[in-house]
Amino acid sequence: MTAQLIDGKLIAQQVRDEVAAMVAKRTAAGKRKPTLATVLVGDRPDSAAYVASKGKACQELGMGSISEHLPANASQEEVDALVKRLNADKGVSGILVQLPMPSHLDEERVLSLINIEKDVDGFSPLNIGRLAQKGREPLFVPCTPFGCIYLLEKSGVKIEGANAVVLGRSNIVGMPAALLLIGKNATVTVCHSRTKDLPGTVRQADIIIAAIGRTEMVRGDWIKPGAAVIDVGINAVPDATKKSGQRLVGDVNFAEAKEVAGFITPVPGGVGPMTIAMLMKNTLRAAEIQEP
Ligand code: GUN
Repeated sequence: MTAQLIDGKLIAQQVRDEVAAMVAKRTAAGKRKPTLATVLVGDRPDSAAYVASKGKACQELGMGSISEHLPANASQEEVDALVKRLNADKGVSGILVQLPMPSHLDEERVLSLINIEKDVDGFSPLNIGRLAQKGREPLFVPCTPFGCIYLLEKSGVKIEGANAVVLGRSNIVGMPAALLLIGKNATVTVCHSRTKDLPGTVRQADIIIAAIGRTEMVRGDWIKPGAAVIDVGINAVPDATKKSGQRLVGDVNFAEAKEVAGFITPVPGGVGPMTIAMLMKNTLRAAEIQEP
């Protein structure tokens, strides 16, 4: 192994410890407890598990959590009314609407209703718009891309002037990650399913952010020696040696990539733990904005 392993679990714990210390300081000073409200519509087991782990993290860090659950057939009006109620509630610092929502609901509309000062996911059009514009600052940066950049910076990877390749253009990871890298003066290429020469494009990259949702797609010989590889993928593959019958792997072939890269995140234990850590950081920030 030549690459330096980026330990997301350790770095996420450091972020959580910092947030917990700030939360304790604020509550000791008589300020409101930073509180995250999550909105889950429907019964997707993966979404339910994500929402539960966000609530658990709040409790571990001394923050409040409110968990709102609407049935899968909830109407647009019901979801809108819930978001408006949470906007008006002074006891709520941040609002997170778990995605995806059932397809009959207008996701763009719901996200646009969230008060920008409570938009801890950073998905409201105002926050994303600011992220996309030069000289403007979003109040909140989407948690997973925020975590990716934080890992690069903590590991001493120089972003300014680097050639960065982002694999995937989702609203949740790929696009905001590309915007963040541009804002930090990287030269950014965004690849997707219709990119012609994926291996050749990735080979130009000093920084690779893989968020394309394809099991171990990025091979060792796609990677420029010394490049920093951030693997956002979480893919289950069959593994008879595990009790669950499966294990998690990323979008990068780790065994190959670690022999070539300069830095690499593992799966699990890389980007995964950072998402919730950054959500906690954003929720604290929301409380600070609302009650300085
Ligand atoms: N679904 C998958 N990732 C996310 C996320 O970061 N935030 C929300 N709200 N939904 C998601």
